[in-house]
Amino acid sequence: MKAKLLFVFASIFILIVFLFTSQNLYNYPNGITGRTQKTSTSGCGSCHGSGATTGLSVVITGPDSLAKGMSSSYTLTITSATGSKGGLDVAVRSGTLSTNQTGTQLLNSEIVHTTGKSFSGGSVSFTFNYTAPNINTTDTIFSTALSSTGGTGGQWNWSNKRVKVYTMTGVINNNEYQPNGYELKQNFPNPFNPVTSIVYSMKEAGNAELKVYDNTGKLISTLVNSFKERGQYKVDFNAGDIAGGIYYYSLKTKDFTETKQMVLVK
Ligand code: HEC
Repeated sequence: MKAKLLFVFASIFILIVFLFTSQNLYNYPNGITGRTQKTSTSGCGSCHGSGATTGLSVVITGPDSLAKGMSSSYTLTITSATGSKGGLDVAVRSGTLSTNQTGTQLLNSEIVHTTGKSFSGGSVSFTFNYTAPNINTTDTIFSTALSSTGGTGGQWNWSNKRVKVYTMTGVINNNEYQPNGYELKQNFPNPFNPVTSIVYSMKEAGNAELKVYDNTGKLISTLVNSFKERGQYKVDFNAGDIAGGIYYYSLKTKDFTETKQMVLVK
């Protein structure tokens, strides 16, 4: 009886070890998340060589500061004399990430390559979008990147980029950022009194109409009604002279309409 039980346990153990190793060998053709200095101290090294290679250059470039809630494209460049394919994992402390380039994907809120990207002229670059949080902070974008020489051979290294997130009131036009879709974000702060910010994105150039209504559908304010280039915009709504309550704001472009709710507390 005891021997039988032991056999069952041993079989389960062997099965687990088998599953684990075969997963290590075959299940990560798409890159691995949770390997940046934010979430791990072993980087890509547990499978691709143990230590970071200080000679391998991994650099994130992009704006050093961004207004709250605003987005920008950042670039990660890996430089190596010997690499043939590059891969990456990018995570962020407080903001959010999204993809803007084929060959990358968002997994567990982190940017990872889908397959290694070939080096050209000794370097390889990946781009991604970073959106600043709605708080004043100094955020950190963490990354690891690998310069492969085929399979698990290669070198890897860390890098960080700090981004100062600041408050800017009034209107911001950010045509540097090229959004992939139209978007109307939740206002912030919310609930608010008496000023709140609304961020929206234009996928294409065209007329943008942003209006505020009360809960009977009465127009309260036209915040924007003009031609906008492709880009991301922020506008403030000052509700100093209206009563507290629930209000709606609506973005209308030639092929997109969205309405969101906000709460004025007085
Ligand atoms: C759990 C083990 C493991 C970890 C951790 C890991 N990798 Fe890999 N990686 C592999 C394996 C196994 C292969 C080979 C897959 C194959 O050849 O099909 C591979 C292949 C790659 C390739 C493709 C190489 C080529 O020449 O085609 C890239 C790029 C890559 N990994 C990047 C990374 C990066 C960047 C990290 C850290 C963020 C990382 N890997 C972490 C196991 C791992």
